[in-house]
Amino acid sequence: MARALSSKDILTCQDLSRQDIRLIFDTTRELKHAFYRGDMPRLLDRKTLGMIFEEPSTRTRVSFEVAMVQLGGHALYLRPGEIHLGVRETIADTARVLSRYVDAIMARLLKHETLEELARYSRVPVINGLTDWFHPVQALTDVYTMEEKFGDLKKIKVSFFGDATNVANSLLVLCSRLGMNFTFCGPKKYWPKERVMKMVEENISETGANINLTEDIDEAIKGANVVYTDLWWWVGQEHEAEERKRAFALYQVNSALMKKADKNAVFMHCLPAARGMEVTDDVIDGPWSIVWDQAENRLHVEKAILALLIGR
Ligand code: CP
Repeated sequence: MARALSSKDILTCQDLSRQDIRLIFDTTRELKHAFYRGDMPRLLDRKTLGMIFEEPSTRTRVSFEVAMVQLGGHALYLRPGEIHLGVRETIADTARVLSRYVDAIMARLLKHETLEELARYSRVPVINGLTDWFHPVQALTDVYTMEEKFGDLKKIKVSFFGDATNVANSLLVLCSRLGMNFTFCGPKKYWPKERVMKMVEENISETGANINLTEDIDEAIKGANVVYTDLWWWVGQEHEAEERKRAFALYQVNSALMKKADKNAVFMHCLPAARGMEVTDDVIDGPWSIVWDQAENRLHVEKAILALLIGR
């Protein structure tokens, strides 16, 4: 199974070909079914994953470590201040040294450029565990979860409400890469930036994906099969909280909005959620919500990615 993906690293979803994405989804399904049968193949026997975190995490931190253990490997949690990453040692030197010890690196970093530099000098695969621009493993999990719930991805409309977060950016890239129907709805000031839209446009020209950006909530919710939202502000944006609350208030996902979506619509959120802000309790805890299945699938998707990148 070693190096079955065409790319050494997964820094953005643009690094993956459509065949890679299909392989990840098919392998995820196999490993998830195997897990529920009580079968955990030792595909990562004696393999090690270095996990660098510059920011806090629940899902990424725990699911990657559990993924390694379930497949027979081991993960090292490397906290800020615990290793010399750009402090006392260049990022390139850290990458060179870690490459001599571990089989892969997963990193959650403040700046995407730091991740790119880490990957440039690493001999082993580097997986993005979230940066200021992208969260590709989350988007892969989300779209895998959509396929699990609906089957044919080309037959669903996905509508994202709120801010162009790293998750929204990654969903835009992945959905356009797969030729899907995706609407981003939020105040124009917070729309996705050129860096992301360049990737999206490149993908649209290849796949004919139906990608829309709009401020019109009625247009976005009409016929939506998947309603998705994310935090209105993240670490480092706290000083903008009041301004952002005002800007995004109309775009809150509440039961009134969900009732305007397709009758079989589901609600998704990458979590953590700020209840009462971007989503109300009755939606996240209600019948529309598949957020816990989505969170669980992080584990199975990560096992697939790790097995395909470094598995035996
Ligand atoms: N969705 C996600 O990445 O969650 P964590 O921040 O808890 O890792």
